[in-house]
Amino acid sequence: MNLKIGLVGLGTGGRSLPLAVSKTTGFDFVAGADLRAEGRALYAKEFGIETFDSVEALCAMKALDAVYVATPNPFHAGHAIAALQAGKHVMVEKPMALTLADCDRMIAAAEKNRVKLMVAHTRSWNAPIRKMREVISSGRLGRVTQVHTIRYSPWLLRPREPMEIDTALGGGVCYRQAPHQVDIARLLGGGLVESVRAHAGRWSPDNDTEGNYSALLQFQGSVSATLIYDGYGYFDDREFIEGDVFGGDRQSGPGQRLRQARAAGQLDKNTSRSGVAFDIERGDGDANRRPRQPFFGITIVSCERGALRQSSEGVFIYDERGRSEVTCDKWDGPLKVELDEFRRAITQDLPMPHDGHWGKATLEVCLAMLQSSRDGREQQLLHQVASPY
Ligand SMILES: NC(=O)c1ccc[n+]([C@@H]2O[C@H](COP(=O)([O-])OP(=O)(O)OC[C@H]3O[C@@H](n4cnc5c(N)ncnc54)[C@H](O)[C@@H]3O)[C@@H](O)[C@H]2O)c1
Repeated sequence: MNLKIGLVGLGTGGRSLPLAVSKTTGFDFVAGADLRAEGRALYAKEFGIETFDSVEALCAMKALDAVYVATPNPFHAGHAIAALQAGKHVMVEKPMALTLADCDRMIAAAEKNRVKLMVAHTRSWNAPIRKMREVISSGRLGRVTQVHTIRYSPWLLRPREPMEIDTALGGGVCYRQAPHQVDIARLLGGGLVESVRAHAGRWSPDNDTEGNYSALLQFQGSVSATLIYDGYGYFDDREFIEGDVFGGDRQSGPGQRLRQARAAGQLDKNTSRSGVAFDIERGDGDANRRPRQPFFGITIVSCERGALRQSSEGVFIYDERGRSEVTCDKWDGPLKVELDEFRRAITQDLPMPHDGHWGKATLEVCLAMLQSSRDGREQQLLHQVASPY
């Protein structure tokens, strides 16, 4: 029987859920909750769901099996715990919470109520990243020695709600974007980060929050990882892989287009939810283009006997015989793979991949990056868990 799933937070991130449900089997998207009446009306019309003005009212629906929490970061813990206490399985957006103590409360609520908790939707679920993990786990290239992942995007130029650019409320790239890169590095590097040294910068004159960082992660077993993020939008790293991942010449300058639109007063917070900002960022020339595989910057893995990086169809493997390629299944949009894993763990009562302990370990790295940047010192980590793959 299909699992009935509801969504808390009918905003930008939440839109991935109905799309993914339509691409997979085993779920019915039946309900949603949001404080905004216009958000509720839009979702009710578009998806025919029942809507509520609070997470508590949503969770009072007896027939509901699971809840996807996609509200702003400061509400993740409270909304997830409300759903877990109501006996619903929960998938929560990254970052899992803003504090490690909140992560512990979420983990305890899941255990006490015997329901599953998954921290979802980071780019570590991208098929090429998963394929790299498969190659590593096969042992054919020996042990991983280092992971390098970089992303240059126009993150700070997109229309932003006040909370998204307030570090104290989980805003800025260390909370909002680092979980993607930390999950990628932990998945590929084994999961167990021992220490972090990082520097994060606040260089945007318009937004007083972190817009960039460089971080060095030291893993158990002498594996290291570097994480680089720049969200100012002058350079977009998709340019590196124009003909490779995007299958043709990509019109350059998404950051430039957003900057011009911002200067012309065309970007306000509503343009984000309506999709206008995405159209401006993509540009007319790119309207029908989509990468064949999802892409979140360049990730290169060095191993004892070879190296890996993303290709247009999957992953390039470099070893003593030269370069070969392993392909991935066609990309069907975000969140689908996570939903499949979520359903499998619930219906077969299996351990949840990227459970609360995994999400807490990733948050610990993000918090250590901020702390290291503030006090200029290396941070030792205490709550890491191994990669489940
Ligand atoms: N994984 C990804 O790629 C990705 C992409 C975008 C957003 N996100 C995540 O999704 C979450 C939401 O971000 P967003 O960009 O969609 O923000 P958003 O502002 O577009 O949407 C959040 C929605 O939550 C609603 N909301 C706020 N407080 C509420 C409450 N107390 N009860 C019910 N509804 C409430 C708002 O009205 C809004 O509709 C964040 O955690 C963000 O990190 C993840």
